Amino acid sequence: MTQNILSDLRWRYAVKKFDPHKKLTKQQVDLLAEAFNLTPTSYGLQPIRLIIVTNDALKKALQRASYNQKQVGTCSHLLVICYQFNFGEKDIERYTEIKLSLMPGKRDEIIKYGEILKTRFAAKPPEEIDLWAREQAFIALGNLMTVCAVEKIDTCPIGGFIPEEVGKILKLKEKGLTPAALLPAGYRAADDMHQFDPKVRRPLEEMVEELKVES
Ligand SMILES: Cc1cc2nc3c(=O)[nH]c(=O)nc-3n(C[C@H](O)[C@H](O)[C@H](O)COP(=O)(O)O)c2cc1C
Repeated sequence: MTQNILSDLRWRYAVKKFDPHKKLTKQQVDLLAEAFNLTPTSYGLQPIRLIIVTNDALKKALQRASYNQKQVGTCSHLLVICYQFNFGEKDIERYTEIKLSLMPGKRDEIIKYGEILKTRFAAKPPEEIDLWAREQAFIALGNLMTVCAVEKIDTCPIGGFIPEEVGKILKLKEKGLTPAALLPAGYRAADDMHQFDPKVRRPLEEMVEELKVES
């Protein structure tokens, strides 16, 4: 089991060239949407959204807004991971509403928890809430990359893009969203030579330290 997921994680790499003719199926896209929604988030509040782009003209415009990185324009499906920029009371109320519908027996407890969350968020500066929301988007990015690797779907995480331009192209402001990361998904081109590169990682002992408990 462990060996399987490690071999999937070794198989994946940040694809530099996609095969533009190979497309993800509807089942694969549905699976990625579900995996996105299953991503755990702080307090379970999900201040994130996923926009899926398949339209070629839109993908090309987004490629231009990403310093012309070709993965953006040639992938099968471009996943745009966004976060809400004005996260607040109404979003907490929506969370409470969903939780109540699933656990009506815990009504008082759920309503009380919602009120605690509202007070806590009202006390935070907006920039702090924005940063918090953005962090949740990166949890989804990691989750999606791993799910894709397990499903043998290729990806390339993209942080190199101009958020204002991507926002304008996808009319994200109108939806209350800011783009955090792009994740082109599809299939590697046979001649993408990067697939043969070794994984560049520090030795494990430099990265992980297990503290030995003194007895
Ligand atoms: C948040 C984030 C942003 C990244 N942005 C870019 C990018 O804009 N363009 C790109 O080609 N690769 C980008 N990468 C890919 C990394 O360079 C790559 O994941 C890293 O070098 C490790 O290589 P591997 O993914 O092939 O194992 C990004 C990765 C992450 C996690």
